[in-house]
Amino acid sequence: MIINMRAPPPHLSIEQGTARSTWPRQAGTLEFGADMVIRDALESDLPAIIDIYNATVPTRIVTAELEPTTVEARLPWFREHSPDEHPFWVAESDYRIIGWLDFKKFLPRCAYRGTAEISVYVDQSFRRRGVARRLLEEAIARAPCLGITTLVGLIFTHNEPSLKLFERLGFERWGFLPRIARLDEIERDLTIMGRHIGIG
Ligand SMILES: CC(C)(COP(=O)(O)OP(=O)(O)OC[C@H]1O[C@@H](n2cnc3c(N)ncnc32)[C@H](O)[C@@H]1OP(=O)(O)O)[C@@H](O)C(=O)NCCC(=O)NCCS
Repeated sequence: MIINMRAPPPHLSIEQGTARSTWPRQAGTLEFGADMVIRDALESDLPAIIDIYNATVPTRIVTAELEPTTVEARLPWFREHSPDEHPFWVAESDYRIIGWLDFKKFLPRCAYRGTAEISVYVDQSFRRRGVARRLLEEAIARAPCLGITTLVGLIFTHNEPSLKLFERLGFERWGFLPRIARLDEIERDLTIMGRHIGIG
């Protein structure tokens, strides 16, 4: 069942056969007054997803990727996700993709099955309006249905906005990997932010 207050845009049409889940969800009202919907991402969303991602590459704050990537290169990564296990969600406002969040395996060994790594990215034009907070709140709320008991975020230690975001959502600093990445000849540290789900 589609829980949405409005008709889907043409590219979300079920007849097109690309919808990967029937779980779009009305996520409330953004601070700037527009409706925001969180829904499973479609392959047709990938150009917008990659645009948001690529905009962060030159900042050298967010990703260890040193060059912009392409839709083609990222297709296998996108297809590793599944709505019922490791979802890939987009936040949409006025039929525009304004952010995304994905779950992925933390480590491949079976004992880590209940732990997922999440990443969240928001279009630069829509930051500081609660988009990432809503995506993370949804991830925390939906984790038990996905069989996930622990969420982690791997964040460069100089990425202050992200560290603050995760802290605000109840994550704690669980790990510190010093000088593990080299970005333009500068060695950078990585912080592992973690949060158990459904445990008091
Ligand atoms: C980090 C990021 C996802 C935040 O997205 P956002 O939608 O702007 O964040 P929100 O508006 O939901 O902010 C929620 C909280 O995060 C913290 N926060 C977000 N941006 C911040 C900033 N620039 N400086 C300080 N704190 C910040 C604040 O605590 C904020 O709560 P507040 O507004 O009540 O103070 C966004 O800046 C982004 O896309 N950065 C690049 C990608 C990235 O670093 N992802 C994380 C690694 S996976």
